[in-house]
Amino acid sequence: MTQPLDFFRYRHRSLRAGSTDLAEIAARVGTPAYVYSAEGLLKPFRELQSGLRGLRESTICYAVKSNSNIGVLKLLGDAGAGADLVSGGELLRARKANIPPQRIVFSGVGKTADEIQAGLSYGAHGIYSFHVESLEELELIQSVAERHDVKQARTAFRFNPNIDAKTHPYISTGLKRNKFGLNRAELLEAARRARKLGNVHVCGLSIHIGSQLLSLKPLQAAFQALATMVLEIEALLGHPLEFVDLGGGVGVSYEVRGPKPPSLKEYTRLIVATFGPKSPFRSRLRVLIEPGRTISANAGVLLTRVLFRKARKAKDFLVVDAGMNDLMRPALYGSRHAVLPVRQGTKGKLKRTDLVGPVCESSDCFGQDLQLDTALASGDLLAIMSSGAYGMSMAGNYNSRVRPAEVLVEGNRWRVIRDRETLDDLLRGEHL
Ligand code: LLP
Repeated sequence: MTQPLDFFRYRHRSLRAGSTDLAEIAARVGTPAYVYSAEGLLKPFRELQSGLRGLRESTICYAVKSNSNIGVLKLLGDAGAGADLVSGGELLRARKANIPPQRIVFSGVGKTADEIQAGLSYGAHGIYSFHVESLEELELIQSVAERHDVKQARTAFRFNPNIDAKTHPYISTGLKRNKFGLNRAELLEAARRARKLGNVHVCGLSIHIGSQLLSLKPLQAAFQALATMVLEIEALLGHPLEFVDLGGGVGVSYEVRGPKPPSLKEYTRLIVATFGPKSPFRSRLRVLIEPGRTISANAGVLLTRVLFRKARKAKDFLVVDAGMNDLMRPALYGSRHAVLPVRQGTKGKLKRTDLVGPVCESSDCFGQDLQLDTALASGDLLAIMSSGAYGMSMAGNYNSRVRPAEVLVEGNRWRVIRDRETLDDLLRGEHL
């Protein structure tokens, strides 16, 4: 489990990624800008890798949706990561980053024929698995495979076990009221149907009950339910499965003194206990996981500059140049991110302050009633911490704002991995 200050630290009163001063990056590329630490991305990835070493075979399919910049994908792909995709656009990114097809899985409830075809035609044998979420999708994969002479499209069924992940309702996915996966009855029906389909091969089962999980208990229950389902499905299909995919990773810390999510050690230990050499499966199944946030959240910050202070009696508003279009999480989920000054300067008094952006919505607020220093003034730089996951990947152009630049710090060097959008980019494809 990572924390906001694991990869960004103060030295000589300025916030740095390794030895790189964030103020230097802001001066060169402007603000708002996302800054990612390569070390921050690789450390949790390697911790997961070593935690899973007790298994015979495993693949970490990084959830591209959490941070889909191709520079980030290349870094993780080169370290051995696969990819968990949810669209043809993400497939294009994974291909650009040279992530091999045998390490790619495709999740999501709404795959189109074009997206399925793109997955089938990557490499000689297509991607490792389409994680099927409905009977209709299974039929569509069959017909696309048949049309393109693909002998066996590799698929898995996504199981919805009706288990409460106890997370924010918007990111809970394993309950029967959620649109995701197949319930037990649907799954058994899909297996019966699959036996009759000539161009589809069912190789595995997958599960994903939610994101930002703060306890292992629901995951443990979900893994058990999956284990039972493996045996049931194998009996129905008449052949053994090759793999299980255990879904996204565990939660991370967003606040320095916030709730403590499970450690990566505890998480991987649970996986090895359920599917490893000492489990009833005796490691016969390959294990995939699809972590996003675990890897990218605390590897990134959003740099922003103070524009104005609106001083009021009860509380001040500090207006910054980043908005909810750049980082949507607080507005969408009410999530809290630590906010730190890039320079630890002279201290004033602490005053109740709302940190707000320029977008015309009252929800454009990165923190309400924060105790911020009254010395913070126009021109000062702030870092909105833990913004590496679901930050830039969810950014948009609301209020016709251009999306921020992205920077990757590697060792003592840094480089721009996405240019700030321009006003021309904003109008691209529009016509009078
Ligand atoms: N696999 C599947 C099938 C998923 O739906 C997700 C996330 C993941 C893996 C990765 O989960 P993670 O390891 O990142 O927890 N925008 C929200 C999070 C949405 C998560 C959607 N699915 C946020 O900012 O909190």
